[in-house]
Amino acid sequence: MSVTSSDSAAYSGALEGSNAQRGLWSSRLAFILAATGSAVGLGNIWKFPYVTGENGGGAFVLVYLLCIAVVGIPIMMAEVMIGRHGGRSPVKSLSLIAERDGLNPAWKLVGAIGILAGFLILSFYSVIGGWAISYVGTTASGQLTGQTADAVGAIFSGLLSDPTTLLAWHTLFMALVMVVVVRGVRSGLERAVSILMPALFVLLLIVVGYAMTTGHFGQAAAFLFQPDFSKLTTSGILVALGHAFFTLSLGMAVMMAYGSYLPKNISIAKTSMTVSVIDTGVALLAGLAIFPIVFANGLEPGAGPGLIFQTLPLAFGQMPMGSLFGTLFFVLLIFAAWTSGISLL
Ligand code: PFF
Repeated sequence: MSVTSSDSAAYSGALEGSNAQRGLWSSRLAFILAATGSAVGLGNIWKFPYVTGENGGGAFVLVYLLCIAVVGIPIMMAEVMIGRHGGRSPVKSLSLIAERDGLNPAWKLVGAIGILAGFLILSFYSVIGGWAISYVGTTASGQLTGQTADAVGAIFSGLLSDPTTLLAWHTLFMALVMVVVVRGVRSGLERAVSILMPALFVLLLIVVGYAMTTGHFGQAAAFLFQPDFSKLTTSGILVALGHAFFTLSLGMAVMMAYGSYLPKNISIAKTSMTVSVIDTGVALLAGLAIFPIVFANGLEPGAGPGLIFQTLPLAFGQMPMGSLFGTLFFVLLIFAAWTSGISLL
């Protein structure tokens, strides 16, 4: 990957000795798309709705929004800043900065722990990415049409109890991720996110549009946005805080790695805020897509991690054009998981 002279000039603020051959994002938009691609994932579409359902709705959402604003955004800024300053991998950036400032060399462990955490997350993320690929086939084939809850549950447990099929889908998901990563920052990652992220927004808006026709949109909006503080628990507050980290891809050194490709002339504060606002917007939109369907079908909002894979297919199986919307929904989930998987790898 070549680096232009203006890139090098922009990059001159990185630490002495950093590897200028690593390349840079081609624009601010490219960084925003990639960081948003990392942030927007299963956390927004799969986890946010089910933890919101489990924790009673509005009051939890309010705490989550506060955590994003007062904890998440500043930490994202700090991670991006460390990455850009070091201009190398998280471990090397931290060790260079520690060396320059005469600090304990053990600082590099912060980067190493992040990489370990990223590895652990990817190990389950890729499995759920595989489920999403599998469900595209399940919904597109019309297998779910008119099925009972028991039959839909049996399809899900059938998938979970079939290691060969699970391994095949998981492998396909990892292959998709690797195909992009081996191509590098510009021709791999940038190209992939500039197609996948806009496609994801369009698909999400289509599913929200469908959800508006279910007649339960108002109930879903009230569930999400009318806080009932009697439903808020201490553990709910901790879940909201933990989810703010997960959803913004923080604490895994991912934003440090992405920040290391960020030219010096781009504002870290503005870009971090933009990424966080888009990520939060997608989570809220996912809630507005999912809860009207949940309420319209008398499903349980607090159903837990199975909300998407067990209750939604039931709803898709009963609604007009459900195969089409169901397929779109799972394609969306694959896109979201794919761009996050890329960042984790
Ligand atoms: N932010 C991603 C999501 O919400 O699904 C998950 C994630 C990606 C977490 C990358 C951590 C990470 F480093």
